Amino acid sequence: MKKLNIMVVVASCLLLSGGEALSDPFQTQAREDYAKALKLKPNVESGKHVYRLCAVCHGPEGWGSQDGYYPEIAGQLRTVLIKQLADIRDRNRDNPTMFPFTQPRMLGGIQEIADVAAYVAKLPMDPNNGVGPGFDLDLGRQLYKDNCVKCHGKQGEGNKEDHIPQIRGQHFRYLVRQFEWIRNGRRRNADPKMVKQIRRFTSRDVRAVMDYVARLGPPPEKRAEPGWKNPDFPKYVRHGHFGVR
Ligand code: HEC
Ligand code: HEC
Repeated sequence: MKKLNIMVVVASCLLLSGGEALSDPFQTQAREDYAKALKLKPNVESGKHVYRLCAVCHGPEGWGSQDGYYPEIAGQLRTVLIKQLADIRDRNRDNPTMFPFTQPRMLGGIQEIADVAAYVAKLPMDPNNGVGPGFDLDLGRQLYKDNCVKCHGKQGEGNKEDHIPQIRGQHFRYLVRQFEWIRNGRRRNADPKMVKQIRRFTSRDVRAVMDYVARLGPPPEKRAEPGWKNPDFPKYVRHGHFGVR
């Protein structure tokens, strides 16, 4: 009887640890694709071609929409773009709107991911990204300093080695929404340490810190000139979201 008990314990330990190792096939696939894409030499010309697909939603400049539905992706770190594309494509981050466009039939293979990421990373950023109401910036600055700097950097510049997103200059409403999704677990690829760190934020805290981050804006070397339009898309008809800024 005793022997049987031990066997049951051993068997369940094996099952549990096995279950853990194989826990998330989506995550495993996304990690593989990320690693593969990073090793490829990107072709920016091909990336421009692929980007036609993305322009429909993110806009020809890659600036997204101030209402926060479409994020700005222009000027994002290359490693972050690759990570997010791989996560979305391999269902490690739920994005039903964009998902079909990331599939092999539309986007192509891992080379195309590397190419489009290199193209997008070089696009200059929106000089007029969406910001919040602006009345809680001291609180925002303090919260940012105490809770975010160590990962996202002093200026919200992110970290390319650890594929931590640049968040400065992103639209306020998108930042708030992602933050809430990260906190409540809707964004599955979230960083567990970050989730822990921000658990106790009130909704005032969230708005304050995101307003501060949005207002950090793009750095001078990544900022587009006022009125800049992407010359790669001379005939693009801007409509819908991009008209309402
Ligand atoms: C049909 C619309 C659509 C198309 C086409 C599309 N996207 Fe997206 N994309 C979205 C939406 C919506 C989100 C935000 C999803 C969310 O809120 O989590 C997003 C998010 C992203 C993100 C994550 C940004 C972040 O900071 O969190 C990246 C990177 C991205 N898209 C790149 C691309 C690229 C590159 C292409 C072209 C290959 C593309 N997208 C095509 C709609 C689209
Ligand atoms: C322990 C490190 C860490 C800390 C601390 C942290 N973050 Fe993050 N954050 C990350 C990582 C890593 C990601 C990207 C996760 C992924 O791969 O999707 C992220 C993603 C985000 C995103 C989504 C960005 C996008 O483009 O989709 C926002 C917004 C964000 N963080 C804001 C903050 C703010 C504000 C704070 C401080 C209150 C903070 N983070 C603290 C590591 C951290």
